[in-house]
This record gives sequence, C-alpha cells and structure tokens, in this order.
Amino acid sequence: MGLIQEIERRRTFAIISHPDAGKTTLTEKLLLFGGAIHVAGAVKSNKIKKTATSDFMEIERQRGISVATSVMGFEYRDHKVNILDTPGHQDFAEDTFRTLTAVDSVIIVVDGAKGVEAQTKKLMQVCRMRKTPVMVFVNKFDREGKDAFDLLDEIEEQLQIQVNPLSWPIGQGLDFKGVYNIWDESLYFFQGDKQEINLGVEFRDIQSPELDQLMGKKHASKLRDDLEIVREVYPRFDRSTYLDAKVAPVFFGSALYNFGVQELLNCFLDIAPSPLPSETDERKVLPSEEKFSGFVFKIHANMDPNHRNRIAFVKVCSGKFERNTNYLHVGLNKRMKFSSPTAFMADKKSVIDEAYPGDIVGIPDTGNFKIGDTLTEGEVMHYKGLPSFSPELFMYVNNADPMKSKQLYKGLDQLMDEGVAQLFTNKMNGRKIIGTVGQLQFEVIQYRLLHEYNASCQYEGISLYKACWIKSKNKVSLEDFKRRKYQFMAEDTKGRDVFLAESSYVLQSAQQNFPDIEFYFTSEFK
Ligand code: G4P
Repeated sequence: MGLIQEIERRRTFAIISHPDAGKTTLTEKLLLFGGAIHVAGAVKSNKIKKTATSDFMEIERQRGISVATSVMGFEYRDHKVNILDTPGHQDFAEDTFRTLTAVDSVIIVVDGAKGVEAQTKKLMQVCRMRKTPVMVFVNKFDREGKDAFDLLDEIEEQLQIQVNPLSWPIGQGLDFKGVYNIWDESLYFFQGDKQEINLGVEFRDIQSPELDQLMGKKHASKLRDDLEIVREVYPRFDRSTYLDAKVAPVFFGSALYNFGVQELLNCFLDIAPSPLPSETDERKVLPSEEKFSGFVFKIHANMDPNHRNRIAFVKVCSGKFERNTNYLHVGLNKRMKFSSPTAFMADKKSVIDEAYPGDIVGIPDTGNFKIGDTLTEGEVMHYKGLPSFSPELFMYVNNADPMKSKQLYKGLDQLMDEGVAQLFTNKMNGRKIIGTVGQLQFEVIQYRLLHEYNASCQYEGISLYKACWIKSKNKVSLEDFKRRKYQFMAEDTKGRDVFLAESSYVLQSAQQNFPDIEFYFTSEFK
C-alpha cells in the first residue's frame, strides 16, 4: 500500500468526557468491534480511577499500567484506528490538552441523564481553539434521562457548536427500544444484552405498519414525529461543515449495552478526517510529504524501578517512520536511530518496523526528549501547538537533603520535560517555584523525586494568583515593567519572562497600567 492510501485509511482521535460519562466503556466497546480485545473489562481494569487526592499513589501505580492503554490501535473495515487515551482525573487535564494536539478529531461522551458537565466544557474550549472536528455520543440511554431534543439544545448551547443528530433514540430507560440510524437510514432494535457485540435487528422502512407491530404504536408514531421535527429543525448533514469544526454530529446510545456504538463507529470511519496537515514555526507540513517528521506530545515514565527508562510518544506527521533509521532530533541538533520503536495495540505493545502519519510511535528514552521536540530526516523545523497553560497553584520547592541537590535538580528537570508541572525561578532570590493546574501534581512530584531520583523536597506555601508570560515590542517599557515588578518576575525553563501575579486585582491593574506589555496565559505565542 502506498503512502497516500496508508494516510487515507487512518483515523487518529481521542475520546473525551467528564469523569463517569462512559469514556472507558465506550473505548472498550470500540476495541471489541476492532477485535483488539476480546473481553469486556480489559481496558477498564487499567483505568485510572477518579479517586480522592489521598489515593495518588494508587493513581501513580495505575499510571504505570496505563502505558499500555495510552494509545489503542486497531484495524476495522480496512481502516487503521488510533484512539489516544486521555486521563479522566481532572488534575491531569494538562495531559489531556496535550493529547488533543496530536489528534485529528474528537468524540465527546455526554451522560444522557446529566447532560453537558464542567470538564467537557473545558475540553471543548481546547477543541474550539484548535478547530478540531468533534462528534458527540450521548450515552446511557438505557437509563432514564433528559429528553433527546433538550439534550441537543443543551449541547449546542453549552459546547457552543451547532449540532446535527445522525442517530435518534427510540424510548429511554426501561422503555429503550433502539436507535434509528439517520446517517444510513436504518433501524436497530435494542436487545439489552451487555456482553455481546450487539448488532440488533435491522429494519429499514419506518413508514411500514410492521413497525407499529414490532415496537408498539406509541413508539412508532413518536419516532416518525420526532424524525419529522429533526428534518425540519436541522439542516441536512454536510461533511465539510463538520470537518471545519462548525457542526457536531450527535449519536445516541448505550455504551454499556453496546448499543448505538457500531453506528457511531461506522459513521466515524466514513466522515472523520484522516491525518491533517500540521503547522511548524517554519511552514505547514503535509502528511503526504515523502520525508518523515513528527513530534513528541507525551512522555511517560516507567514506574517499574527495574526499568528506569521513559517512553516518548511521537506522533508521525509526515512520511514514513522507519526503525533503525537516522533521524534528526532538532532540539538537540543530534542524529539518532531507534532500534526498538513500539506501536500500541489495546492489550500489548510490540516493536514495529514502520509507521505512517496519524500513527503514534513509542520510543524508549533515557532523557533525550522533552515534550514538543521535533524529529525530522534533516530539515530544521519545530512543530507548534503544545501550549503550557498558565498554572494556578504554586509552591516554593526546597531541597530537604543538602547531600542530594544534584539528584533533586535532575529529577525536577526531567519531570518538567515530561510536562508534570512547570518550574519557575524567581529572579529576585533565585528560588524555585513549581506551578501546577492540580493539587495532585505536588504529591506526584514529591513521590517520584523520592522513588525515582532518590531526592527529597519540601514545599513552602506561596500566595500567588497566576503566572503569565509577558512580552513587549517596546523594550523600554518591558525593562521598566521588569524593574518595577522585580520581586514578582521569574523565568521559565526556557528562559522566558514570567510575571507572578499575587491577585486578580494586581494582574488587572498591571494590564491597565502597562498597555505596552502583552500578557499571555498559555505559553504558545510568538
Ligand atoms: P469514564 O471513563 O467516563 O469515567 O466512565 P466509565 O466508562 O468508567 O463509566 C462510568 C460508570 O458508568 C460505570 O459504572 C459504567 O459501567 C457506567 N456506564 C457506562 N456506560 C453506561 C451506559 O451506557 N449505561 C449505563 N447504565 N451505565 C453506563 P460504575 O458503577 O462506576 O463502574 P462499574 O463498577 O460498573 O464498572
């Protein structure tokens, strides 16, 4: 198969949801269809549970296990499907944001009883920012929940995107009869068996009186009426509008009972984008370019103390990646060869010889890679789109064992490369400040420093509201600002200027009083 065919048959996406909406269950059912796993529960047992802070060691243990489920690839209907897993715990939201930079589309799972929840809204903002095409799966229709039309309105309003239902539920809860597939105009009856891949009973002509007999007059005429309204209210589905991220196709079903899932998967394969062009600082790169290039979007530490290395996850953006071939690590300006790159199938990872755009390659790493690093065949370019978000929780980090300061700094450096948190150095006193988006990261860092680097740290509270990057075309104003705010100026690990605002008031007045200074709340700016 040629490069173009390999690209066109690939679908790389992430499933996102508020915890508990059914992301893991849906992932698992998709894998069952792909034959990548054979029993329900295989993914679930690897899941990072949404536990309280005190259980973070358990989370870390499971993070180790979850390497295997970071990327789940499978073949289905001549397509190569790559699902990128995103952590459910909101303290790891930043991992999720970064994963979203490596996908071409997204499926959002919404709980049919709870509707759109907070974390889904937040993640949707990232999709909107990146213009990622999204589909929505409204889950748990085997339970009583909200009305389908109300849910569509809620999704439209809360996720700020037009919707277009491509399947339609018949009944709900105990009365759930199945879904009508608007996309291919067919109907499947719900059979209420969660163990099997459930194809249901196919039925095509919904005007036929036979339908009244099969599901009862009430349901049959409600379905006909509902579909009439759907046709009146929603324009005919247009794929290009979906690819432009302007409309979200919506599906209804029950992941647990495996209903509506195949409709979703089939339609997804038909309409979701194959690998798209990617932006670098220098130019746009097409997947079909002959030369390989890609970037690291995630680094996963190996939690097994006997195998210290990490895995760098590289998204292939163009050309063909080949094992044992010389590639340029642009950041280090160093040629490297990889003898055991791995690909991820749901339940195992195996060494691969080649990979194509859209694929994720795992590269064992001993500390050469940072998140955002670019690999090419020789061209010097830098992939864009891995923002750090301005953190909201801060602590001074102190060395608790003076004999181990080397280990501490090495550990901190490496953890920052992985994107666990952000490290700032206060310009005034040289003290190190860790900034995170979740409380859990502080514990993760302390635990990992001790167990992986044999270093111990102590935290000391610091009252800060936000850290933001600053820049100005006016050098004099910038210097003036830095001088006046000397106490609150810091540097990130790349040496960029960061302003540590003590309160929202301080930040606002700084913005008002220094109109020449630009304040950035993600690190992705030029
Ligand atoms: P998440 O990854 O989004 O956090 O959600 P997950 O799939 O773990 O699902 C959360 C809970 O919702 C699970 O129940 C799961 O069984 C249930 N669930 C998922 N899909 C459906 C559905 O279509 N219908 C119904 N009725 N329930 C669904 P749990 O009790 O937390 O876990 P478990 O003990 O059942 O595994």
